[in-house]
Amino acid sequence: MVDQSDTSDDRVRFVLNGEVRSIARPDPTSSLLSWLRYDARLTGTKEGCAEGDCGACTVVVGERRRGKIRYRALNACTLFLPMVDGREVITVEALSTGERLHPVQQAMVTCHGSQCGFCTPGFVMSLFARYEGKDDCMSGDLNDCLAGNLCRCTGYGPIQQAGDMMTSLPAEGLKIDEEAAHRRLDSLARTSPLAYRYDEPATATTKHFFAPKSLAALLSLKATYPNATLVAGATDVALWVNKDFRVLIEIISVNDVEELRSVTEDDTVLTIGAGVRYTDALGPLVALYPAFGRFLSRLGATQVRNSGTIGGNIANGSPIGDSPPALIALGATLVLASSSGERRLPLEEFFLDYGKQDLRPDEIVKAIIVPKRSPDQLVAFRKISKRFDQDISAVCGAFSLHVSEGIIRSARVAFGGMAATPRRAHGCEAALAGARLSMEGIAPALRALTKDFTPLSDLRATAAYRQAAAQALLAAMMREVDASTAPIDLYDIPPIAVEATNA
Ligand SMILES: Cc1cc2nc3c(=O)[nH]c(=O)nc-3n(C[C@H](O)[C@H](O)[C@H](O)COP(=O)(O)OP(=O)(O)OC[C@H]3O[C@@H](n4cnc5c(N)ncnc54)[C@H](O)[C@@H]3O)c2cc1C
Ligand code: FES
Ligand code: FES
Repeated sequence: MVDQSDTSDDRVRFVLNGEVRSIARPDPTSSLLSWLRYDARLTGTKEGCAEGDCGACTVVVGERRRGKIRYRALNACTLFLPMVDGREVITVEALSTGERLHPVQQAMVTCHGSQCGFCTPGFVMSLFARYEGKDDCMSGDLNDCLAGNLCRCTGYGPIQQAGDMMTSLPAEGLKIDEEAAHRRLDSLARTSPLAYRYDEPATATTKHFFAPKSLAALLSLKATYPNATLVAGATDVALWVNKDFRVLIEIISVNDVEELRSVTEDDTVLTIGAGVRYTDALGPLVALYPAFGRFLSRLGATQVRNSGTIGGNIANGSPIGDSPPALIALGATLVLASSSGERRLPLEEFFLDYGKQDLRPDEIVKAIIVPKRSPDQLVAFRKISKRFDQDISAVCGAFSLHVSEGIIRSARVAFGGMAATPRRAHGCEAALAGARLSMEGIAPALRALTKDFTPLSDLRATAAYRQAAAQALLAAMMREVDASTAPIDLYDIPPIAVEATNA
């Protein structure tokens, strides 16, 4: 069993606005946002939705990776307080000195980027992360930087102008002093990992939190506590607590396990650790498959991608997660690990049924192995959702074709949102194999697609819409690669009548 005695290891310690904070045994599923507002009395950070959607709670978190501190915008409402252990948290209160505004704040004032002001601290912190620019993985696109922040008043134009203007304003004395930040983080160094129990008198509940630092320790904990909830970015798990009021009794964070946080490659494959953030996975994935660029930039928004992991997206088993269809189409392999060893399986075999995955209680998702692209391979990923950014897919389609001499030699096609799990479209794949790579060539595959799935109607889309959308995605993919037709945007595709293609 893990030692949970009253030592310094049961204190969550982090740097808040330049000062070390040490909190003894906090409720492990209380949010950083609640703690900031109700305990630290830093009420600049706002609560809008408490589910990662609005960005009003955006803070900047500094984490040391490979000797450098990366500062990223994160939603404090979906971070459990112990997740910032060993890290630096910066809130909007720390940006200005006295009367002197930080350039981000000054630009917001000058450009009239704030009206009621409720969203403003969140926007300021997203812009601040961009202003500091100490993150190689950060997108250069201003709209991408702001897509996770909602404003109901200003209409975004002035905020975008502030984002453009801020870099031209002087910041002497207001930029992050990284040397000092390193020293502060050094002072948080632990001799043993964070692990504690929390007794909640009101409900007579005892919770346990662990943040192991090695894979071996993680696997041993999972063997001891098979019912424990693993937490990576918590962009799903925090919502179970905030919105469904679920009480998590045993929580194991995978965030300090270095073995889960690396991306490696050899001649044939890219291996992405289950704890790698989307933001960090994006570069290596795009280098192999440029199609991931636009596709993953539509998964959540910056704050969600800075926290969320592909491992979490797979492990949650959602039928509408975005990365599984893409990775299934690419023929990815999942690596599962337990204290008794590792096993590997094709990703599609992991998803057994709605909410049911091929994962034993003592196992974790360790990594995902993505084959490298071959020269004859065409790849396209598309999602349809009600909003462009920060929205879960109604339908998500992923296509990987091997083509030579204008003929599709083999195809892997996978969809999300069309069945109880992310699934391959076997009939469609069979119809594509041997077909000409042209709009005419895909007609049988379009027909086959209607038989591959019997989608449901729900709040995101009706069954008929889903069926038509899946066909439209296939048609869009084909028109994109078909040299005989002009490239089109997905939104230009005329609706396809389901009845007509059923004929
Ligand atoms: C505002 C918002 C927008 C979103 N938009 C999208 C979107 O556009 N597309 C999309 O697909 N998703 C979206 N999501 C959902 C979520 O961001 C993703 O599913 C994300 O990938 C989850 O990763 P995580 O690291 O945060 O997982 P967590 O929340 O930490 O965990 C998710 C699940 O995985 C388990 N788990 C985590 N790591 C492991 C592991 N190593 N081994 C075994 N089990 C593990 C957890 O126990 C839990 O069951 C959105 C979420 C929010 C809040
Ligand atoms: S309060 Fe809306 S994202 Fe956190
Ligand atoms: S200024 Fe009012 S919500 Fe943005």
